[in-house]
This record gives sequence, structure tokens and C-alpha cells, in this order.
Amino acid sequence: MSTTVSRRAFLKMTGVAGGTMLLAGCGFIDSIRGIPETGLPQIENAWSYDGSTLSLDLSRLPEIQSLGGAVRIEGEALPAPILIVLGENGEYYAFKNACTHGGRMIDPVAGTMTLQCCSASKSTYDYDGNVISGPAQGPLTSFPLTLDGSYLLIEV
Ligand code: FES
Repeated sequence: MSTTVSRRAFLKMTGVAGGTMLLAGCGFIDSIRGIPETGLPQIENAWSYDGSTLSLDLSRLPEIQSLGGAVRIEGEALPAPILIVLGENGEYYAFKNACTHGGRMIDPVAGTMTLQCCSASKSTYDYDGNVISGPAQGPLTSFPLTLDGSYLLIEV
């Protein structure tokens, strides 16, 4: 025996009003919309770019002061958006923040030393940029970097 429930009755039963999804703000919805977990710097003037070197003042970037942390660096002066990660191994990594499948941004996956695209397809890469899974078309672009005191210098 089947029971038919009208849309209005369903919304009333589930507490969903006006078509608003209960899942709004969850990881699944963010992946549909292509919203990354990694944020922009909380403190202004934490970085500069001279046309070839991106200079990050680590003392002003709490986002990458703990193992597994990450921050997005974006700006019109930069040739591409950059994702900076402090891996759980204590090493810094810098990537062009664009999945090689459809260009969505990427995030580190806690505890795995991997990166994952924020799309629903979730291409996954290792910290060398190599594709582990998903429809990615090739490796992520990574940028060479050096530590100079409290500054991280990235050749972009
Ligand atoms: S944009 Fe990353 S898997 Fe499609």
C-alpha cells in the first residue's frame, strides 16, 4: 500500500518552509555550490607580491601556524589564486588553487596529507600535486617556496 503526501504536507511534516533545504550550510551543499572550507587571511596586510615572489608574513597568518592549517591567498595582482598548507609533516606547500578538472578550489583533508577539490566530484591529490582519485585532468600546479625567518617566500 502506498501513501501520497502533498508537497505542502511534506514541508509541514519536515519543518522545511519556503523551499529552504535543511542541509543548507552542510558540506554536501557547499560541494554543490563549490564553496571551499579554507578561508582568506583574517588579518590584513599579511602578504605582498612583487610580480614574481609572494611574501607571506607568517606572524600575521594564524591560519597556517598549526599543523594541517591552510589559507587562501587571492588578489588581482596575483596571476592565480594560491592555497598555502602547513602539512601535518611540518612542511609548507603552495598550490595554484584550481582543480584540474573544473577549476574549483581545493582544501586539505585533515589527517590524510591529501587535498580535495570542493566540488561534488571531489578530485583528490597528494601533496606533490599528483591525482589520487576523481576526474582531475592532471596534477595540481605547485610553487617552489623557501622560509626566510618568519616569512614564507613563494615563487609564483
Ligand atoms: S572541479 Fe574538481 S573534480 Fe570537478
